[in-house]
Amino acid sequence: LWLRYRPLPPQAAAALAAQARSLVIAPGAATSPVLSAALGDLQRGIQGLTGRLPAVATVPQPGALLLVTPATAPAGLTLPWQALGGEGYLLRRVRLQGREVTVIAANADRGLLYGSFAWLRAAQTGADLARLDEFSAPRLPLRLLNHWDNLDRSVERGYAGSSIWDWWKLPDLRDARYVDYARANASLGINGTVLNNVNAKAESLTAPYLAKAAALAQVFRPYGLRVYLSARFSAPVELGGLQTADPLDPAVRAWWRAKADEIYRAIPDFGGFLVKANSEGQPGPQDYGRSHADGANMLAEVLAPHGGIVMWRAFVYAPDARDRAAQGFAEFQPLDGQFAANVIVQVKNGPIDFQPREPFHPLFGAMPRTATALEVQITKEYLGFSTHLVYLGPLFEEVLRADTHRPAPGATVARQITAMAGVANIGTDRNWCGSHFDCANWYAFGRLAWDTDLAAARVAREWVQQTFTRDRRAVDTVTALMLDSREAVVDYMTPLGLHHLMGTGHHHGPAPWVSDLERADWNPTYFHRAGPDGIGFDRSPRGSGSVAQYAPALAARWSEPATTPEALLLWFHHLPWDHRMASGRTLWQELVAHYDRGVARVEAMREQWAGLRGVVDARRHAEVTAYLAVQAREARWWRDACLAYFQAVSGLPWPAGTQPPA
Ligand code: GCU
Repeated sequence: LWLRYRPLPPQAAAALAAQARSLVIAPGAATSPVLSAALGDLQRGIQGLTGRLPAVATVPQPGALLLVTPATAPAGLTLPWQALGGEGYLLRRVRLQGREVTVIAANADRGLLYGSFAWLRAAQTGADLARLDEFSAPRLPLRLLNHWDNLDRSVERGYAGSSIWDWWKLPDLRDARYVDYARANASLGINGTVLNNVNAKAESLTAPYLAKAAALAQVFRPYGLRVYLSARFSAPVELGGLQTADPLDPAVRAWWRAKADEIYRAIPDFGGFLVKANSEGQPGPQDYGRSHADGANMLAEVLAPHGGIVMWRAFVYAPDARDRAAQGFAEFQPLDGQFAANVIVQVKNGPIDFQPREPFHPLFGAMPRTATALEVQITKEYLGFSTHLVYLGPLFEEVLRADTHRPAPGATVARQITAMAGVANIGTDRNWCGSHFDCANWYAFGRLAWDTDLAAARVAREWVQQTFTRDRRAVDTVTALMLDSREAVVDYMTPLGLHHLMGTGHHHGPAPWVSDLERADWNPTYFHRAGPDGIGFDRSPRGSGSVAQYAPALAARWSEPATTPEALLLWFHHLPWDHRMASGRTLWQELVAHYDRGVARVEAMREQWAGLRGVVDARRHAEVTAYLAVQAREARWWRDACLAYFQAVSGLPWPAGTQPPA
């Protein structure tokens, strides 16, 4: 991953070694498991990069790295402790009793851990350590991975092999990978992980599985990573033998209370439950005529005494919906103010389902009395699986920076949330994520969850420097290629606000013609509505009206094609094929141009990558090259299939100068 710690060239290695001659901690401090974890990676990193193992000491010599908290800071060191909060850190070069040293300062050991990884990041990305002054504290208290891992080790929408949780061998065998997994997460500031699929099996809450989860929690604890579980709402029936899972039934409540107590006996710092209820056939409180709030609050009540939380997902849609995009808001917004204090409503970034581009979900900012989490998908279910090179940093950045206008302009999604969850893309593949570049998406998720204001471009750059090379030209090339990749996939799959055109079930490849699925709101034709008259889903007041779920200023803007960004045009409007675009082209010509541009961008990415032969190691270079060839083939497949279909339903001739699909 990005913790390779490969040897630096001799001069750089010597310079770095001079900044990290020893690691200084207060006498006795090393007994803290978290601090030991921090020291462990500092030693491993410094040794790897410089060839010299720094000693752990208690007296600062020149060139020492000091790990300090308010309780252990040497006299004369004045630092802005308060601003650091519980998890933040400060890296600073200071002169202490006449000696040049670097301090890694935090209020607690967890901050020292994050600060240590930040120092290693600075060292690996070639920062000027002699002038180091870096302060960072996360705004979101909860930054979680959501594993959609099943107990049989299959992974829902996973493209990186099997689940890394070896349930058969746990709790006895603790694979060394669990430690590396925890290190990688800690290096980004990810502080929680939900182990099992949201489509949960009740068995995950039985004693044997709790013991397995407890073993993982023990491995993760020194890295500040808490364990959470997805809970199946009907577990009291399946495991407890009750007749009902009605959240207002006293026996049901008693069952969950006892279950929570049992979990906390096994895992004292258990984080809480993630729940998918009354969504895609999962059981939930509505089965008993109760609301999402009734269900969430019942679980919240039994977790509260232990300090646990409930993350209740808002991903719901009804089979008969006039507009599937409207359902989440319609069900959840009216419940604002009814959720217990330890409930977080977890909302996907967009109102449909992790499409290459969606507008932000209208629930963000619309539930001011409810804590909300932003859920993004790191695994690329709808973006070419792990084969297509798509760097998701720009997608995450786009949603975090989207202005909800609630209550006023400037209230971005990032300012509305208290947590960020990423559906993990990790598996047993040797490269962890199914492709080398998909590791950048795990990285980008963690970095942006820690600091929602970070630029995706900067994150890409530092990932490349740590993962591939520090060669300036190569870093520029790979970063540029990554930054282009998201718009490329939008162009060759679903440009101009189109969405949900993919193959049924597996979600790979194009299938815009599918119209006969058992549920209308699964059909691609339901979403694109292409016909002789035009294309697009009309969500304006003239259509489904769901644009009104956004703040009035946005709703007004997006109700008119002229003031809707072209990137979202067909999301909000159904327009005639000859609709005039900003470029002067007709909509049909513009659509063809976007599909062509997507294919061309992938070809450009291939060329850029080919130019790095010899700069990037041969094995990784070859593997990425092979995947880019697949991506180029599949980008054409997407373009040709979609355009051939749209051409057939529109009856329009091919725009002059373009090639009809073969
Ligand atoms: C998508 C995905 C499912 C998943 C669901 C969810 O629909 O295809 O596999 O279960 O999202 O987020 O719950």
